[in-house]
Amino acid sequence: MAGNWKMYKTPAETTQFFEKFRPLVERATHCEVVICPAFTSLFAAADAVKGSAIRIGAQNIAWAKEGAFTGEISGPMIQSTGATYTLVGHSERRQYFGETDKTVLDRTKAALSYALTPIVCVGERLEEREAGKTADVLATQIQNGIAPLLPGQFAAIVIAYEPVWAIGTGKTATPEIAADAHRTIRAQVLAAFGEEAAAAVRILYGGSVKPDNVKTLMAQPEIDGVLVGGASLDPVSFASIVNF
Ligand code: PGA
Repeated sequence: MAGNWKMYKTPAETTQFFEKFRPLVERATHCEVVICPAFTSLFAAADAVKGSAIRIGAQNIAWAKEGAFTGEISGPMIQSTGATYTLVGHSERRQYFGETDKTVLDRTKAALSYALTPIVCVGERLEEREAGKTADVLATQIQNGIAPLLPGQFAAIVIAYEPVWAIGTGKTATPEIAADAHRTIRAQVLAAFGEEAAAAVRILYGGSVKPDNVKTLMAQPEIDGVLVGGASLDPVSFASIVNF
């Protein structure tokens, strides 16, 4: 159960969140819990979860170790904060910051080489769904952004299916639509990495997940977890998602 805080919360607000959130998920041993704050709050977040099972992730990672890449943050820098996860290829990165399947692949490889677990995001836009292209779009994103990984690298990643039309819109994909897309993704994984890898990979659903719809989403055997934006900003709401 992963939270993506996007461009919200200062370090002080981060600390306040965890003071409330930690006790609420103390007994949540049924899943991994990850929160991805802004870079500037990574230290505060990692500090606030010390001694708990909660993990911290970045929202993006540079493909290079260091260099003249103004505005980017590298694997070793993320690692130094205590974070152990990173999102890669979130649709907002693709939409507003020119992220492509190629940069997604490069960033994923960088994460893996610094022992950070990448949560690699894929998903179709509204016009692609309406044109009946969902399966094609997912196939392309996976073939170009994920399939070139080595099998050993693939085994360490998490995939998040986030239909762009469901993000921040209050329009959740129905559990059936989500499960269907997850099956498409698993079929692509099977073609690239084989049966065992397809059965083992964790695929999260993301897009307007809330405390009141998480149960029906998680009831789908195809859905292994959720990636939550808006509803992860409030400790009570995210805790009730974690404890669904
Ligand atoms: P949302 O965002 O839950 O606010 O729709 C999900 C995401 O972008 O990861």
